[in-house]
Amino acid sequence: MSGETYVGAIDQGTTGTRFMVFDHDGKVVANAYEKHEQIYPEPGWVEHDANEIWENTKEVIQEALDDALLEPEQLEAIGITNQRETTVVWDRETGQPIHNAIVWQDRRTTDRIETLEADGKTDDVRHKTGLEPDAYFSATKAEWLLDNSDPIKLQRARPADVRERAEEGELAFGTIDTWLIYKLTGNHITDVTNASRTMLFNIHDMEWDDELLDEFNVPREMVPEVRPSSDDDHYGSTDASGFLGAEIPVAGALGDQQAALFGQTCFDAGDAKNTYGTGSFMLMNTGEEAVMSEHGLLTTVGFQRSGEPVQYALEGSIFITGAAIEWLEDMTLIEDAAESEKLARSVDSTDGVYFVPAFTGLGAPHWDQRARGTIVGMTRGTRREHIVRATLEAIAFQTRDVAEAMESDSDIDLSTLRVDGGAVKNNFLCQLQSNILDTEIVRPEVDETTALGAAYAAGLAVGYWETMDELRKNWQVDREFAPSNPQNVEHRYGRWKEAVDRSLDWARD
Ligand code: G3P
Repeated sequence: MSGETYVGAIDQGTTGTRFMVFDHDGKVVANAYEKHEQIYPEPGWVEHDANEIWENTKEVIQEALDDALLEPEQLEAIGITNQRETTVVWDRETGQPIHNAIVWQDRRTTDRIETLEADGKTDDVRHKTGLEPDAYFSATKAEWLLDNSDPIKLQRARPADVRERAEEGELAFGTIDTWLIYKLTGNHITDVTNASRTMLFNIHDMEWDDELLDEFNVPREMVPEVRPSSDDDHYGSTDASGFLGAEIPVAGALGDQQAALFGQTCFDAGDAKNTYGTGSFMLMNTGEEAVMSEHGLLTTVGFQRSGEPVQYALEGSIFITGAAIEWLEDMTLIEDAAESEKLARSVDSTDGVYFVPAFTGLGAPHWDQRARGTIVGMTRGTRREHIVRATLEAIAFQTRDVAEAMESDSDIDLSTLRVDGGAVKNNFLCQLQSNILDTEIVRPEVDETTALGAAYAAGLAVGYWETMDELRKNWQVDREFAPSNPQNVEHRYGRWKEAVDRSLDWARD
């Protein structure tokens, strides 16, 4: 390729790691992806090997550059976007994690949250962090790691207690953005969006909160410095003597859902997007106001540019959507995700079947840690086509649950919804979503808006793009889906809610 320059983005997701390179028009010029292992040590537990994630990150960067015949020096900056909340603790001296990362889906700290509830402390956490106290967030995961990691594995001469070492500042805590920034630049930094998902960060004064650090027993010595999502001062640079062989500024980071909001150019209050990945996450920009939800949504940091005020968002977090399609594959009901569209279209309805894929509890707007997956309405005549169709309907119904909450909290009518993520390639799902929401669905040309958002954040910081308006102009519609032929939607939505009720609190002891 010629001597043109580009911006790269690492998209470190729940199931794999992607590196994409974008040009000035926001078009993809290089792309490589690698999956990593999902580790399930016990029912409800989910871990990742942070070292494997780092190795894969280096590999996909190299592969994407090689495939597109690009030199690393052609990258003006690198941005990072990541699965949020997933928690890593590592030894600052060796750079080695003390334990596998605990993934956002992990439920091992459910009891800890229940203790918090019993102690009457949840309102305070909600008020400071904007989050609904849940095992989903990083705080209880970090606490668990400090209480349960094996000191022998720390590979240190002095067999001190893990917690004692953390208090002495020898261990570092971070979400996956922090881990990758540390590996790329040697600096211990997170961005405001990722910090807002830890349940340790006060989103109103934008500081780590001493009372929360104390409550969850996370020493202040181990938390990263918090910086804007698009940082003119840069988080650091890659090392010319490192794997890339070049000094490239790492200048932007956003949690993946906030990155998708940014990549969809939802820069103004009232702009909303829904991303269909492992789970689905609907975010609405609420501008400089942190709108506190009264309907089970989260208040979170949307993004921040250097020297500018923080932009907040309301979020409806649905834990399992794309992962339900993966589950259909695991169950050999479909061969691959593409087959789900064909099978769902081959029947007129689910024949009364409703599937609530609450595999890891239910997030917004229900917040039930003990809900579990439930299929109701099956008869002897139920075929796999009905279950497949019910799975796609579940994705659309769950989205309606959060969309209704969002309209109530924001007083804004969602007349159109921008969508992205792997599952929006499925035209059947997009049309179904439009019918079930009675809202126009708009799919952009670049559906990898998560990586694009991270590239935008980094590119703005180094002046590759000058203004947000340039980015708005890059956004192009691929296809719009208007509501059509919505058979019995209200009746079906009512039945869906009854099915959800049956899934609640299933995993109680
Ligand atoms: O909060 C969890 C979310 O960030 C995970 O996103 O795309 O990896 O499923 P994804």
